[in-house]
Amino acid sequence: MVEITGTTRLYGILADPIHHVKTPQMLNAFMAQEGIDGVTVPMHVGADDLAALMAGLKHMKNLGGLIVTVPHKTAVLDLCDEVTDSARRIGAVNTIRRTADGRLIGEMLDGKGFVGGLIAGGIAPEGRSAYLAGAGGAANAIAFALAQAGVSRLTIANRTRAKAEDLADRLKDAFPGLQVDIGSPDPSGHDIVVNATSLGLRDGDPLPLDADRLAPEQIVAEIIMQPEQTALLKAAAARGCRVHFGKPMLACQRELMAAFLELSAPAGTAE
Ligand code: ATR
Repeated sequence: MVEITGTTRLYGILADPIHHVKTPQMLNAFMAQEGIDGVTVPMHVGADDLAALMAGLKHMKNLGGLIVTVPHKTAVLDLCDEVTDSARRIGAVNTIRRTADGRLIGEMLDGKGFVGGLIAGGIAPEGRSAYLAGAGGAANAIAFALAQAGVSRLTIANRTRAKAEDLADRLKDAFPGLQVDIGSPDPSGHDIVVNATSLGLRDGDPLPLDADRLAPEQIVAEIIMQPEQTALLKAAAARGCRVHFGKPMLACQRELMAAFLELSAPAGTAE
C-alpha cells in the first residue's frame, strides 16, 4: 500500500452492509502497483443518510471519487451533478468521479464488468438465451450489457414485478429486435442464468430462483462476491450446472473504474 501523506487523494466505497466489500483491496493494490498517490477506504452509510453524506463529500477537495454498491446504486443517480448517458439509461450509478471544480460525475460499470468477466471465463453471451433474477441497479446494468452483447432473448424475474416490467420496457425501447419476457422463479429453458439480486449476501437468505428447476446444460452466474460460494452456486453445482463466480465481474471492472476515475501516476513515477 502507498504511504498516506498530505497529497494522497481519497477514494471511498459507499455501502450498507459494508463488511463484504472487496473494492478497497482491489483498488489499493492497483494504486500501489501503478504508483498512484491515492487510497480507497470503506464508507459505511445507511440509505437515510446517503444524501447528506454525498452533499458533504462534494466539498472535500482531496476526494478523487467514489464507488457505490448495495443498496445505494439507484438512489445515488439523482445525487450526482451529472451522469453518463449509459448510467441514465440504466438508472443507476456505481462509479463517481469528482472533478477539480467539485462536480460529481456518475457512471455505471457493473454490466460491462459482468459481461467482460463472463467472456474472460469463456462464456460468450452472444446468441445465447439469458434469465436474469433481479431488477435493481445491478440487474439493470447487466440486462443492458447482455442485450448489448447480443443475447438471443432475455427473461427478467423480480420479486417486485413492476420493476421487471419497467426494465423490460426500457430494454425493448433501446433494443427493438430483442425478445424480452417477464419470468417466474423458474429459470428452465435458458442457456445462462444470472443472479443479479442481493440474495446470497446474508446468511439464511432465500434462493433468488427455483434451483430445483436447473438442468446440467445451464450456466449459472452470480454477482455476489462474498461469500464466493453462495447457496445458489452450491445448488447449481449439485445439479451439474457450470457455475460462474461473482469475482471476475469486479476484476474486469478494475480497468474500467481506473479509466473512469482517471487514476494515473504522475509522469515518471510508475514502476
Ligand atoms: P443493487 O444496486 O445491488 O442491484 P438494489 O437496487 O437494491 O441493489 O436491488 C436489489 C435486488 O435484489 C432487487 O431486484 C430486489 O428485489 P425488489 O426489486 O423486489 O426489491 C432483490 N431483492 C432484495 N432482497 C430480496 C428478497 N428478500 N427477496 C427477493 N428479492 C430481493
